[in-house]
Amino acid sequence: MDILLIGSGGREHALAWKMRQSLLLGRLFIAPGNAGTLQIGVNVPIESCDFESLGKFAVREKIDMVVVGPEEPLVKGIADYFMEHKELQHIPVIGPSCYGAQLEGSKDFAKEFMRRHDIPTAAYRTFSADRETEAQMFIRTLKPPYVLKADGLAAGKGVVIVNTQEEAFAELHEMFSGKFGAAGNKVVIEEFLSGIELSVFALTDGKNYVILPEAKDYKRIGENDTGPNTGGMGAVSPVPFADKTFMDKVENRIVRRTVEGLRSDGIDYKGFIFFGLINVNGDPMVIEYNVRMGDPETEVVMLRLESDLVALFQAVADGVVETKTVHAVPQTATTVMLVSNGYPGNYDKGKPIENINDTTDCIVFHAGTAVKDGQIVTAGGRVLAVSVLADTVDEALAKSNRNAAIIRFEGKYYRSDIGFDLK
Ligand code: AMP
Ligand code: GLY
Repeated sequence: MDILLIGSGGREHALAWKMRQSLLLGRLFIAPGNAGTLQIGVNVPIESCDFESLGKFAVREKIDMVVVGPEEPLVKGIADYFMEHKELQHIPVIGPSCYGAQLEGSKDFAKEFMRRHDIPTAAYRTFSADRETEAQMFIRTLKPPYVLKADGLAAGKGVVIVNTQEEAFAELHEMFSGKFGAAGNKVVIEEFLSGIELSVFALTDGKNYVILPEAKDYKRIGENDTGPNTGGMGAVSPVPFADKTFMDKVENRIVRRTVEGLRSDGIDYKGFIFFGLINVNGDPMVIEYNVRMGDPETEVVMLRLESDLVALFQAVADGVVETKTVHAVPQTATTVMLVSNGYPGNYDKGKPIENINDTTDCIVFHAGTAVKDGQIVTAGGRVLAVSVLADTVDEALAKSNRNAAIIRFEGKYYRSDIGFDLK
């Protein structure tokens, strides 16, 4: 099978790396890819949301399947685009329709979906900009801290948690005034939940599902989980507290009800579902849905996945995912993200990267890299994900950190405490 993978981050390098192990894979194209995917397949200089060019490329190269990494093309309707064009209809797209992608594209849609299908999540109400006074009245009924979420996609920045009513009112007003653009035209205000978070992933054909290894992501820029949120500074899989009892609850109360809900709502959904969960005194609750794999979670999930990923995608496309079981190795995978100085704020690009080839016992997935004049250079905030599979979490982290220190580029920063709370 010839596959076109959409995206350019560490998630896509890890997906490409795993797909390459499959005997079912023929040619692999990555649009637009990065300096890492270049070593596995052919990078195609087309942006993720340029559906017309992606469609033309798929026809010209007789692509057999499209796998979508990031959320933006999904929310903008890449799966629908392929369905609506005669010459593309036969090409399965791994990723939901734009309606299904509303699970990530609209927090209000996701909350309403969970309410309808009895899926455990924080109590909430949604307000549009013309109902600011009512929203303030609702905030007065809640206990601090206050959780406010811009309804639409806001590049991971749309959630604000504040401690006082005054701050909540001010934040609400800013969101309604366009702080996050149109994403803040509606605001979800919800109950604060306290517990440890984890990420669970399923692959569904819209009727059945398989569950992939879970992971824990470290979102804050600073050590000990301090400072602003990032896309993710590192990840660990498995998650020790996600034992069989807990994962059975996740499956019975959350995963199954979600897939049954999609089906009973008539939502066409073939692809990944990412459950952002929180463990509240042993009970899993949903913080958010994403309609794609996580990044950097993919980098650890793919290291542990034994099953053939292309065969899993084929089963999703054929609507027979119930014939598949997922096998994962019991070892621990860790990844430590090397980021550019200044991230998650402004940062420089184009810094030469040295010593990747001097690393040992690890796989370095590229997140934001490019090739310039034959030299690998930085091209994003998150640059490289130093990923290790080992017998224990301590050994894996020691190797990730040792190799993270070996790689050099100007302004390199990484957290050396990934996994600190799991030991
Ligand atoms: P989200 O974009 O919905 O994942 O929210 C970003 C982060 O905000 C989450 O990873 C949580 O750490 C935090 N968060 C979101 N909703 C809640 C909630 N109801 N209670 C506590 N923390 C939350
Ligand atoms: N690591 C969290 C995400 O991919 O959204």
